[in-house]
Amino acid sequence: MHYLITGHTGFKGSWLSLLLEMKGHTVSGIGLDPVEKSLYEQANISDLFQKDLRIDIRNRDAIKKAVEQVDPDVVIHLAAQPLVRESYRTPLETFETNVIGTLNVLEATRNLNNLKAALIITTDKVYKNHNKSRGYVETDELGGDDPYSASKAAADIASQSWIKNFSRSPFAIARAGNVIGGGDWAQDRIIPDLVNAYTNNEIPALRYPDAVRPWQHVLDCLNGYLVLIDQQITQGLSGEWNFGPTSGERHSVKDLVDCFAKAWAWDSLPWTVDSRIVEREANLLLLDTTKARTLLNWKDKLNFEESVSWTCNWYRSELTQFERTREQIQQYLNLA
Ligand SMILES: NC(=O)c1ccc[n+]([C@@H]2O[C@H](COP(=O)([O-])OP(=O)(O)OC[C@H]3O[C@@H](n4cnc5c(N)ncnc54)[C@H](O)[C@@H]3O)[C@@H](O)[C@H]2O)c1
Repeated sequence: MHYLITGHTGFKGSWLSLLLEMKGHTVSGIGLDPVEKSLYEQANISDLFQKDLRIDIRNRDAIKKAVEQVDPDVVIHLAAQPLVRESYRTPLETFETNVIGTLNVLEATRNLNNLKAALIITTDKVYKNHNKSRGYVETDELGGDDPYSASKAAADIASQSWIKNFSRSPFAIARAGNVIGGGDWAQDRIIPDLVNAYTNNEIPALRYPDAVRPWQHVLDCLNGYLVLIDQQITQGLSGEWNFGPTSGERHSVKDLVDCFAKAWAWDSLPWTVDSRIVEREANLLLLDTTKARTLLNWKDKLNFEESVSWTCNWYRSELTQFERTREQIQQYLNLA
């Protein structure tokens, strides 16, 4: 099967490209140049793509031409401006990329003859956040206060409308929780912040230590996407799907940091609070994943502690980034 991944030069895109290649698929990618220190660059994965294209998804004509040229069996749309803090700095660009860019990708698939399924990736942050103590279900109201969440909620609603009216094969939307895993070097994300701090022998300063998030290992999240795509192709499934940790698991940022510090064997003060933060972020965010667990028979294979320890092991490994990523994918595929 030939997969086209938008955002293949990013964190999830690099893991997903390797995972698909190891499963025997052909992979092409559309994205921007990788950022400095990215997994894509450091693991040197450019050779695995049949077509490795650098196109801005805001450019409607270019994206249409490229998607038609690739002519994939499956499209997975990951490309986005995915950072909350960056969205406060560049709100318009964030909306353009996340909303218009997503519509451009959808529109570009319209005349594909071989397309068997497409999956649009939004996020757990699309739900209108009421600090609910239960997880959000797929039918809950969408909305967002910060520009990133609002742009993703808008992209989700726009995709639902486009899919309802124009798709000729099964299209679905996946909303996953906060993923952790090796090879994430993005600014303002907790794991890269910790790795940078520990490597420089500094005490990390946390922005929202009490914020609760649906943490999940990147491979559990990507496996969810692929299980869904299989059933889109074989059973014609579509709709919206949450992927996240087992319901009832509830871990704050400081739980994650404490667990990571232990795995790293960091013996100094684990963290302090960064008091300079002015941007707002929701305090409590949980996902209800019953739909994916019951209808797709999907389940996460790594619990919270395992997810953190796999992540820590990746950053501490002596292997090359390419080898350690492949090693963890193989280990994951070997799990029942
Ligand atoms: N990482 C998480 O915890 C998380 C959680 C929920 C949802 N998501 C979603 O998953 C997807 C991937 O996230 P990630 O963590 O891999 O992000 P990332 O920043 O590592 O990768 C983003 C990718 O999108 C591409 N991109 C950005 N703007 C583009 C543009 N204008 N044109 C073409 N390509 C563009 C980048 O080049 C890169 O390949 C995003 O849609 C994000 O919203 C991520």
